[in-house]
Amino acid sequence: MAKYQTVMLDGSELSVKKAAAFINAGEVVGMPTETVYGLAADAFNEEAVAKIFAAKERPADNPLIVHISDLTMITGIAAELPQLAVTCAKRFWPGPLTMVLPKTPNVPFITSGGLDTVGVRMPSHPVARALIDAAGVPLAAPSANLSGSPSPTCAAHVLKDMNGRIPAIIDGGECDAGVESTVICFEEDGGSGKSAIKILRPGRITAQMLSEVTPHVLIDKGVLNAVENGAKVASPGMKYKHYAPKAKVTLVDGTAELFAEYVKAHAGQGTVCLVFRDTDIKGLPCIVIGDTAEEQAHRLFAALREADSMGAAEVFARCPTTDGVGLAVYNRLIRAAAFRVVKL
Ligand code: TXA
Ligand code: MG
Repeated sequence: MAKYQTVMLDGSELSVKKAAAFINAGEVVGMPTETVYGLAADAFNEEAVAKIFAAKERPADNPLIVHISDLTMITGIAAELPQLAVTCAKRFWPGPLTMVLPKTPNVPFITSGGLDTVGVRMPSHPVARALIDAAGVPLAAPSANLSGSPSPTCAAHVLKDMNGRIPAIIDGGECDAGVESTVICFEEDGGSGKSAIKILRPGRITAQMLSEVTPHVLIDKGVLNAVENGAKVASPGMKYKHYAPKAKVTLVDGTAELFAEYVKAHAGQGTVCLVFRDTDIKGLPCIVIGDTAEEQAHRLFAALREADSMGAAEVFARCPTTDGVGLAVYNRLIRAAAFRVVKL
């Protein structure tokens, strides 16, 4: 699908202007954000948004997040703004939080994946914000990977997946968070009549942080569990195989010692391990994703891509904690592993 001679732009003002000109001409541009790289186009331009779906080979029912640089932009996008959403915006924007809200008719159904709601986020990355400002329109942007592949956390990852598929990528360096934004919606907490925040996808903004806004924070069951075929889901992204490298990934839940024993007993040709710093397995290739959940989040997708470039046939990964940002790491890894977990 080599349609374009993809150019790599730097994050300068001139480059941002060039990228904005592509967007205003109805094209798609690779954009750095503080979470992962996105594939950005004018959220109101149906033909431009169709190009995002084509470049990514993304299923049409998986909605895109609309990115804004200023709170005043939200009135053209969201038809209603519940009080909790206003509080969350004040507290967490700009930053890695996406809020699912009822959409206005301005937002085409191709952007919202056919839904009456739209995910909105105000990124904190200066280049993303400058690009939205320069384009003068909200930007629809999914992660800039081919559908099903690990999300890109640097410009080289975007080029690998999108070379020839889009006209330009802005290189804004390595992404800080490394996992995509926390996606939330608002609903009633049981029969209590109280409004609650429901986490549809965990990220850097953790359940603990959200519970400073309201004690009613729920976690959708799709965050930790596989979605059954044909089941109705709160967020279409939950249905799809995600973040998967070419290798077969298995999560191995146990101490460093038990993990090492298990892996030595089960390793074959092409086995690669994804480990924390406390794990040292002699004789087997290991990729260290770090110790703290933040560090693991930052390194995870690059590590999955590295496993592919090493030609890994099988990956055994240490099972992360589900506390704090760890929930985001676990949520991505368990999908990469197609929910295969060995408990030791
Ligand atoms: O950090 C991020 O969110 C990155 C950067 C580029 O901003 N974007 C990103 O987009 O991860 P994407 O398309 O790869 O993931 C968006 C997720 C999907 O799982 C999608 O199903 C969900 O958000 N989503 C979007 N709009 C939704 C809606 N209206 N209702 C429910 N889920 C929605
Ligand atoms: Mg994605």
